[in-house]
Amino acid sequence: MKSLEAFLDTILILLIFVYQPFCLSLVLDSITPNNTVKDGDVLLSGQKTFALGFFSPGKSRYRYVGIWYYKDPEKTAVWVANRDDPINETSGVLAIDSKGRLIIYAKDQNSPIWSANVSVPSEKSSSSFIAKLLDVGNLVLIKQDNSTVIWQSFDYPTNTYLPFMKLGLNRKSGLNRFISSWKSADDPGTGNCTYRIDSTGYPQMFAYKNRVPFWRAGSWTGQRWSGVSTMTNGFLDNTSYVNNQDEISVMYGISTDSNSVFSRFVIEESETVRQFTWQDQGHEWVESWYAPNDWCDSYKRCGGNGNCDPSDVSRFECVCLPGFEPRSQKSWELRDASGGCMRKGGARTCEGREGFLKMTRVKLPDTSNALVEMGLSLRECKKKCLKDCNCTAYTSVDETKDGVGCLSWHGDLVDVKTYSNTGFDLYIRVDATTLVKESQSKTLLGNIPPETFLKESDLGDDRADSDVPLFDLHTIAAATANFSVDNKLGQGGFGSVYKGILSNGKEIAVKRLSKCSGQGSQEFKNEVMLIAKLQHRNLVRILGCCIEEKEKMIVYEYLPNKSLDCFIFDGEKRKSLDWQKLFNIICGVARGMLYLHHDSRLRIIHRDLKASNVLLDTAMNPKIADFGMARIFGGEQIEADTNRVVGTYGYMSPEYAMEGRFSIKSDVYSFGVLLLEIIAGKKNTIYYENFDSNLVGHVWDLWIEGKALEIMDSSLDKSYASEALRCIIIGLLCVQELATDRPTMSAVVSMLGNDSALPRPKQPAFVCKRSYTSGDPSTSGGAKSVTCTEVEAR
Ligand SMILES: *[C@@H]1O[C@H](CO)[C@@H](O)[C@H](O)[C@H]1NC(C)=O
Ligand SMILES: *[C@@H]1O[C@H](CO)[C@@H](O)[C@H](O)[C@H]1NC(C)=O
Repeated sequence: MKSLEAFLDTILILLIFVYQPFCLSLVLDSITPNNTVKDGDVLLSGQKTFALGFFSPGKSRYRYVGIWYYKDPEKTAVWVANRDDPINETSGVLAIDSKGRLIIYAKDQNSPIWSANVSVPSEKSSSSFIAKLLDVGNLVLIKQDNSTVIWQSFDYPTNTYLPFMKLGLNRKSGLNRFISSWKSADDPGTGNCTYRIDSTGYPQMFAYKNRVPFWRAGSWTGQRWSGVSTMTNGFLDNTSYVNNQDEISVMYGISTDSNSVFSRFVIEESETVRQFTWQDQGHEWVESWYAPNDWCDSYKRCGGNGNCDPSDVSRFECVCLPGFEPRSQKSWELRDASGGCMRKGGARTCEGREGFLKMTRVKLPDTSNALVEMGLSLRECKKKCLKDCNCTAYTSVDETKDGVGCLSWHGDLVDVKTYSNTGFDLYIRVDATTLVKESQSKTLLGNIPPETFLKESDLGDDRADSDVPLFDLHTIAAATANFSVDNKLGQGGFGSVYKGILSNGKEIAVKRLSKCSGQGSQEFKNEVMLIAKLQHRNLVRILGCCIEEKEKMIVYEYLPNKSLDCFIFDGEKRKSLDWQKLFNIICGVARGMLYLHHDSRLRIIHRDLKASNVLLDTAMNPKIADFGMARIFGGEQIEADTNRVVGTYGYMSPEYAMEGRFSIKSDVYSFGVLLLEIIAGKKNTIYYENFDSNLVGHVWDLWIEGKALEIMDSSLDKSYASEALRCIIIGLLCVQELATDRPTMSAVVSMLGNDSALPRPKQPAFVCKRSYTSGDPSTSGGAKSVTCTEVEAR
């Protein structure tokens, strides 16, 4: 008995001995030359608001030194020391070295893995240095004899902008503080996106990807950024902006009226700036704001002298500023405004009869070419601008100081947007003719302009049409058995779809939108109502919508035959479709698209046409679903739930995939891919064994060799060969590289409907060839990995 106890004791001691170095983690309140932070230890701030220690982000196995909000169970890092210098095991130590530098070292390394950038401290003994984590999340290195901070983590932000952190330029030391994205959620290494102050002209906040701006928060207007229409008050109330000879910087605080509302801003590699707010109840960070938020937020969306107005869904959101016209009418019609606008033909703006028109509720133009004169009043500002023929617009500098300070633009007016409620006044220079014309529509010339002049564009008379029904949540919940899994029809980029049966026996399909739509309820309702009025036999009917308790749902007619992809790619089911039925489906989809593009009052670009978005009724007539979703979702959230690029890659036109530009011609591209898929019974996104390239490339190769019909599966009746060949050529015409080469949907419908001679297609875009490089584990496709190269047109 005794000996057994002794034996167990020995084991215990042994275990403690063996595990001690791994188990004993310390909680520290400071780092000194004798007190280091080992992997596993935690350094806490005085009030335990923030913690510092080693961590591994996401799925990474590397170790980093980071700071996180102490209450956050996820330990979301708000700062990372060695972001670009990971440690691949757990021997890391954060310490103050003999010279008084803050360093991270690891076993078997001769030199530190990371060190704080301090101008080499004096010969003084290192014992006079101490590092502490402050309660705002700032790690500071202090020289104890004179209590000076010689280094602080707030001067070297990573991807997070915290309260009390200063962003901007110290003009004396040259230190520029800005945030930059992580490479991915698993890799805090320096990514390509930054959010920073640009001090060119009149300073502005910009978000860049690889130095190219993608969003402009704009210039400081006394209490907010000119390009930020909404942000929590906690942010707005406590922002301090400094621009003097010493520095240009901005800092925000925590609103004092509500206790402990803690927030952070993060720039992400996906070109988004987000604000998160800490929720004590849920113990989590909750997203409270983000930008860009609609597509008018994309920098320079409507080119020089264009104005992006997202309020009127019945037309293209880009319009020219008053007195201007599109530089290229043709690309404007294709919804490409990148060329911008020029003064209306022959208009002169330097002959003494011109004047200014007042626009209200706008995002002020890019101020990198703007001039500031604080001594001038608004009236003097106008006078001065009028005399200078190159002066194109002016306004007040600071909205909090009424009419003081002159901000004037010289050259193109860039990145203007119209807001629905907030926004600024802008006085823009127009020629005499425009001035007279606009003055007749309620605006005055030369003098201080009185009123808003840009009126809400009217939506036409039929807006008062009988509204589509608003369903209440109870009705929908009852119809779908409380959104039961059994009733779920599918999951798409925008949310889940459920089958439901109303109390009167009518079957419905309910699309429950994922909660990331940036829109308010009224806006959502308006847009669903507008889109619900589009009626065509080849479009799925919208029966109504439901907006309650943060839920947004669209109610559709129910189609029992599910979607086209279930049929055309399924060997068995495909047999039920003969050529006549396939051709009927192709023509139906084409007519539905034509209606969206040209015939409907709204002119909708679908943006996500694919086989799974074409539903079939009992007679196998095609009905296009999910049209207008870009409108409803306010922009670029097409694949809200799916990986943005992989999701519907096979259907994306080159101008969309590479430049994010949509037009009716990008829909035509998707239609072409779909048409070829219908005929071949094969997906463009899947790599087939006996193909040298993706479907589009394979069809092209066959066509060049004069064997295009080989793409049709053998089950199809070859007596329709000439009609099928015609379809293949039309498909190839639709997927041509250049948008201008592709036919419009009306040309497609006409080509499908008669026997006229067809043009010869040029080489398609995105011919993807098989790649023989060894599998890169980072690409999700795995064995099916293919490289896509944009092939030059011959
Ligand atoms: C380190 O600081 C010096 C000046 O103090 C600066 O010139 C240098 O760019 C900094 N290096 C890094 C990596 O920040
Ligand atoms: C950053 O941009 C470069 C150049 O465009 C690209 O090669 C790299 O993959 C990008 N990095 C990330 C994390 O996306």
